[in-house]
Amino acid sequence: MGTSLRRKLILSALGLSAVLVPALTIPWFGARRLPGTRSSTNLPAPYLFPPGFLWGTATAAYQIEDTQDDDWAAFERDVVAHHRVEHRAPGQAQPGHIHKLTDFSEEVRLKKTDFDARIESDLAMAAAMKHSSYRFSISWSRLFPRQEMTEPDPAGIAYYQRIFAALDQHRLKPAVTLFHFVSPSWFWQEQGGKRGWERADALLHFERFVAAVVKHFGGRAELWCTLNEPMVYAYAGYLDGTFPPLEKRSGPPALVPVLSQLLRAHALAYRLLKEDAARRGKPVQVGIAQHVRAFQPLRNHHPLDRLTAQIIDQAFVWDFLDALHSGQLRSKVMNVDLSIPGLAGTQDYVGLNYYGRFYVKSNLLRPTKFEVLMHDPNNVAEDKPNELGWASYPEGFRLALLKAHQRYHLPLYVLENGTADSKLEDSDRQRLLVEHLREMYLAQQQGVDVRGYFHWSLFDNFEWAEGFTARFGLTHIDYQNHFHRTPRPSAALYTRIIENNGLDAALLSQYGPWPQP
Ligand code: FCB
Repeated sequence: MGTSLRRKLILSALGLSAVLVPALTIPWFGARRLPGTRSSTNLPAPYLFPPGFLWGTATAAYQIEDTQDDDWAAFERDVVAHHRVEHRAPGQAQPGHIHKLTDFSEEVRLKKTDFDARIESDLAMAAAMKHSSYRFSISWSRLFPRQEMTEPDPAGIAYYQRIFAALDQHRLKPAVTLFHFVSPSWFWQEQGGKRGWERADALLHFERFVAAVVKHFGGRAELWCTLNEPMVYAYAGYLDGTFPPLEKRSGPPALVPVLSQLLRAHALAYRLLKEDAARRGKPVQVGIAQHVRAFQPLRNHHPLDRLTAQIIDQAFVWDFLDALHSGQLRSKVMNVDLSIPGLAGTQDYVGLNYYGRFYVKSNLLRPTKFEVLMHDPNNVAEDKPNELGWASYPEGFRLALLKAHQRYHLPLYVLENGTADSKLEDSDRQRLLVEHLREMYLAQQQGVDVRGYFHWSLFDNFEWAEGFTARFGLTHIDYQNHFHRTPRPSAALYTRIIENNGLDAALLSQYGPWPQP
């Protein structure tokens, strides 16, 4: 490194410290790492939710259904053909790799959970577990396996009719997702040098898909989720290279073409669903599922950790939701201020997926080269990292619900929450359920209008770059033994909670003592 460059770096570091060090003394500066993991408010038991509260599980088409001709299917085939199988510890996906994919048979890789053969019995199982709702996604490529199609494939429609019929039969209220990470492989053929969402005709094709869903299934569901975790999709697909299209672009501003298309896709789906509902005289609630993490500084004494954590939180969690609210994608990190017609106010509820805390460790000399740690290696006892290394942080759940409520004043649905616990005796999942539902109750007592909770997931399934090794199911699937299902103890615990519509005193004391104020 040349002397002048070194001098410049030292000067800029000094300059930065001159701003940041005094700022550290300002209490509101940056995010703060909070001690402990569970809220210290204790209210008299039981902790109950309002009548009509939705209790269910969430799934997604690609993760549970027979594999279609999708971008993810092409990725999986490529991983197998070129042995890009990840063998390191779970939670460390390498770009272009899938964890231990070839440890599972081709039958498992193609059938995922064998849900296609078991729709009726799996949904009967959810009903027997007393669930009142079920979140699933509709596969775009099942409806439009070929690009030139203007009408959906009748076999695809029939497939989802089977699901809706089983849900009706068991009085499970459908909650339907339109885009959950996966698109048809034809969507990735280059057109004018662009692929996927950036193609000039991307929205036309998406509109065709949504119109078909609305025509055939409008009126069958009240709760609709247009997009699942758009920021995770964009980050993993275009910066990290761990999801198709496996790109590693230069930085957050390069996500704008994709994110702005997703916002337009959401706006058009919102409009189609609302117009259809108005025609039918049946209400619908339309929103998205946003991935929320509690981003906190690894070191509270480090001003740049605090500042970076705050900036990431705004960019990763709130910028996209703010855009649905204001109609404007405005982001410092992405260097964008873009108005999108028809977008403002296209959120009837805020949908949150919550999985815990991430710690931000900054780099003073290269502020854009910060690290995000899934748990603090010096705080393992409290973080209780799960099998993917994710830190459990129930209090962050309450804080996220509260912040979403204060920001948008809308009803909230928890569209995903859960953990990777593969054990047949899944004590971590059981604890997670009780701890998070307690926080959800405390949020409700602070005025948050939470209307439903969907646990991820009904059974083990294909966990993207983590393959089949990460297991999130209330129900265990034996992939070596014809996809045999065995409910874990958490399934019965969840049933008990649903039957009480909340947490009873015995359960609260079993998982206590809780922190005191
Ligand atoms: C979320 C995804 C969902 C599942 C869970 C564990 O980010 O929306 O499909 O993979 O994580």
